[in-house]
Amino acid sequence: MGVRRKKVSVLISGRGSNMQALVRASREPDCPFEICAVISNEPQAKGLSFAADAGIATAVVDHRQFESREAFEEVLHETLLVFESELVALAGFMRILTPTFVRNWEGRMLNIHPSLLPLFKGLHTHRRALEAGVRIHGCTVHFVTADLDSGPIIAQGAVPVLPDDTEDSLAARVLKVEHRIYPEALALVASGTVRMLDGRVVGDWQADEQAWLSSPAVTRRSLLKDITS
Ligand code: GAR
Repeated sequence: MGVRRKKVSVLISGRGSNMQALVRASREPDCPFEICAVISNEPQAKGLSFAADAGIATAVVDHRQFESREAFEEVLHETLLVFESELVALAGFMRILTPTFVRNWEGRMLNIHPSLLPLFKGLHTHRRALEAGVRIHGCTVHFVTADLDSGPIIAQGAVPVLPDDTEDSLAARVLKVEHRIYPEALALVASGTVRMLDGRVVGDWQADEQAWLSSPAVTRRSLLKDITS
């Protein structure tokens, strides 16, 4: 008999492509998590219909229906409890959460952010990466702490920035990587392989010591030889 799978609620505000990647991963036989609910603050979020079609419980907690952020979060918290959530995955959830809410889920709530944190916290990350002229960009999965986009980093994925990139082409390249690293990072947490301790990520994870990415690509034969030998 397999190990009991951790129940994960996914919070979305829109398209929900990361949520879909998590749902797909959860269907693998050895996946250490299952998606118990998809919750949106936006009634029209496209991701809700995908979740419903996939037979996953859905709920809407519309922030506009509440007088304060605290009142909204109280119902959001109750909703997470109703679904017996053990972990919370923010996946394009575009509401800032208060320290009180975050504390309730400390070490049990993850977020995906479309930049290599701590670069480009907040919004418009791809535009800002292009403006800054970085040659490598990417995405980060981190534990959520009270400071926006600042929690301990679980996983990162990098892509090159190409000379003719637009905000959209760069976003699309990063998104593909988001769909790979989010399920991976969530599995690390759900299986207990990594956890948050004293504001850091502790545990065991695999990394390819030889892996590297340069942009522009290194093409000179002499340099390649040095790096790969
Ligand atoms: C993703 O790129 C995610 O990293 C980003 O919103 C997009 C949601 O797409 N999240 C943030 O910017 C959070 N600050 P999705 O709904 O298709 O997953």
